Amino acid sequence: MMKIGFGFDTHKLEDNRQLWLGGILIPHPKGSVGHSDADVLIHAIIDALLGAAGLPDIGNQFPDTAEEFKGIDSKVLLARTMEMIQNKGFSIGNIDSVIVLQRPKISSHIPEMIKTLSGILKIGEEQLSIKAKTSENLGFIGREEGVSAYATVLLEKSS
Ligand code: CDP
Ligand code: ZN
Repeated sequence: MMKIGFGFDTHKLEDNRQLWLGGILIPHPKGSVGHSDADVLIHAIIDALLGAAGLPDIGNQFPDTAEEFKGIDSKVLLARTMEMIQNKGFSIGNIDSVIVLQRPKISSHIPEMIKTLSGILKIGEEQLSIKAKTSENLGFIGREEGVSAYATVLLEKSS
């Protein structure tokens, strides 16, 4: 059996915050705002995984009102999500994703993101695709007020 999943996330960008994307810290004067480390790509991937497995979304699994998740490394949430997926008997076929960010250019960091996240997900690097796009200076992303990410995932289950 195969199941497809889709996830989306957006976070606000502010001065003097850390910019965590795909599990790594990107050097930049602005960073993303959120209850956790606000890693928009990991959050989109988590929601895609949960959606494909038929599980409730990230906000249900890891409530942003819970003190337990304040400032938490999203890689921890990703590892926990992977356990839930495996417990339901699923394995990952592949993941495709896009980060939409005006600045900085991040393509040089993508190999490290792939290495980091594929390690947590226990999949081959060729099973994870991460792409980057600007929004051509349009809208809130173009004004560098926010960052978004989209992810799709294919889950497989034998029998
Ligand atoms: O070429 P097009 O207008 O479709 O796309 P773009 O948004 O101008 O992005 C061109 C390329 O820049 C992308 O394919 C990425 O490789 C790279 N990029 C990046 O490294 N970091 C970003 N924040 C946005 C885009
Ligand atoms: Zn998020």
